[in-house]
Amino acid sequence: MKVLVLHGVNLDMLGKRDPVQYGTVTLSEIDEALRSLGVELGVDVESFQSNVEGALCERIHRAHGTVDAVLINPGAWTHYSYAISDALAILDVPIVEVHLSNIHAREAYRRTSVIAPIARGQIAGFGLDSYLLGLRGIVSTVRATQANSSG
Ligand code: DQA
Repeated sequence: MKVLVLHGVNLDMLGKRDPVQYGTVTLSEIDEALRSLGVELGVDVESFQSNVEGALCERIHRAHGTVDAVLINPGAWTHYSYAISDALAILDVPIVEVHLSNIHAREAYRRTSVIAPIARGQIAGFGLDSYLLGLRGIVSTVRATQANSSG
C-alpha cells in the first residue's frame, strides 16, 4: 500500500512559525515520524511539500492510479482552494485532512474547510499526532475496503 502525504503552503517553515499554534516540530521530523509509522504498519509513505498551488495540483494529478490513499495538510489552502479540492476529488482513493492546530478554535475564516467535503475525515488539534492518527486511520480504511472487495 502506498500513502501520499501532502503538505501545503508555509508548512516548510514549521519550527520557526508561531510555536503557540504549531509547536516546535519541523516538517522533516513530521515526515520522519510518518515514515517510521509507515514501516511499523507495513505501508510505503511518500511526502511532498510545496508553496505553489499549481505544483501541489500537479503532484496530485501524478498520484492518479499510483497511490492508495492521501494524507493532506493543505495549510491556508484548506480554507479557499477549490483547485486543490477539485484535484483531490479526481483521485478515486480515500483522503484524510489533518491540521496541527485546532482550526475550529481559531479565527472564523479557519473554521471553513473546502477540503473536508471530499475527505473521509479530518483530524485537527493534536500537533504531530494529528498526522500519525491520520495515517493510522487511512491505512485501516484502505485495508477494510480491500478486505471487503476480496471476500
Ligand atoms: C494549519 C491550519 C491553517 O489554518 C494554517 O493556515 C496552516 C496550518 C494547521 O496545520 O494547523 O498553515 O493547516
